[in-house]
Amino acid sequence: MISEGKGFSTKTVHAGSVRDSSTGAVVPPIYETSVFAFSSTKEMIDIMSEKAEGYVYTRYGNPTVRAVEMKMAKLEEAEDAAVFSSGMAAITTTILTLVSSGDHLVSTRDLYGGTLEFFQSTLPKFDVKVSLVDATNFDLIKSAIRKNTEVIYVETPTNPTLKVVDLSKVAKLGKKNRIAVVVDSTFASPYNLRPTELGVNIVIHSATKYLGGHNDVTAGVVCGARSFVQKLKGMRKNLGGTLDPFAAWLLLRGLKTLGLRMARHNLNGMQVAKYLEKHHKVKKVYYPGLPSHPHYSLAKRQMKGFGGVVSFEIDGDFETTMRFVDNLKLCYLAGSLGGTETLVAQPILSSHYFVSIEDRKKAGITDQLVRLALGIEDSEDIIADLEQAFNKI
Ligand SMILES: Cc1ncc(COP(=O)(O)O)c(C=O)c1O
Repeated sequence: MISEGKGFSTKTVHAGSVRDSSTGAVVPPIYETSVFAFSSTKEMIDIMSEKAEGYVYTRYGNPTVRAVEMKMAKLEEAEDAAVFSSGMAAITTTILTLVSSGDHLVSTRDLYGGTLEFFQSTLPKFDVKVSLVDATNFDLIKSAIRKNTEVIYVETPTNPTLKVVDLSKVAKLGKKNRIAVVVDSTFASPYNLRPTELGVNIVIHSATKYLGGHNDVTAGVVCGARSFVQKLKGMRKNLGGTLDPFAAWLLLRGLKTLGLRMARHNLNGMQVAKYLEKHHKVKKVYYPGLPSHPHYSLAKRQMKGFGGVVSFEIDGDFETTMRFVDNLKLCYLAGSLGGTETLVAQPILSSHYFVSIEDRKKAGITDQLVRLALGIEDSEDIIADLEQAFNKI
């Protein structure tokens, strides 16, 4: 193992790296193999029974996958990590590891649409009840807890209205009641927020976003205590949401520049949010780095930066909003975030397309809401693109 250093970017480059003594390769190889051979039956038995270290079958574990897990554990200040074939595989496998039939889960109402659908459509099939609450109202979380609550699940900042949840408070509540606190920290990334330092037990990312960072890999990550990650890997083996070694290698590569990219996402987020706030064709801007945001002081205390997602409401109707989006020339009309290219989408037609109108209303997702996921281009160019589209509505 080589020295990993202390700084965030030093860790993104070096943590989890193993020096390849046979070739001296600086970059770890891609072990694109589905299976590993043994030199003898004894070795096979020792590895299978975990008496000796080694690999058996890529669905169980793989050296390229392991390298990215070790890096992520360091970045999130967690004991261990497991990676998955998508953010949704990470979320569903985590929850299915934590709950059993008859259990109860408390969650933020503001959630990524896929997670909400899993909570509302899949968990009830296994007799797991879910209470959805406004997680920015701490008393509501507290009063939603029942004797059989096993998990408190939150997203922060939330998708797409960027509400900020007080993680220290929620973590204390979980600890007091012996309930696992799980955070989807995708919108923050470990550069801006480290939930384990605030007492959170389990941190999840859709690594498809900032961690991969180039709009070219689909992956998920879960970080937590070693004992939990071991159970989680057992569940991953059975459910099968393993990350392919090439995707793991892309993720490793993306992570090396996470600090550089996040600094730029944060800068672009702030500059574009300020521009939008002053624009006469914009009714409302959602960005936790603006003093006008209701959770600004909490966000400032809890986060190092505020990320590259800015949501805003156009002063007009659905048709006007569509016209604005369709006139953008630099920003891609696409439903993701956290990559090098700026993406724009209307949440009602993307992340929240399958969410009921009633639930959308409760989460404040209107027909005029636009989610801008800023990339790492020059903010002047992004602003010029927005301005020319505003001029057409
Ligand atoms: C906050 C959040 N969590 C989880 C997911 C799901 O991740 P994936 O698309 O990698 O399955 C998304 C996807 O947009 C997301 O925005």
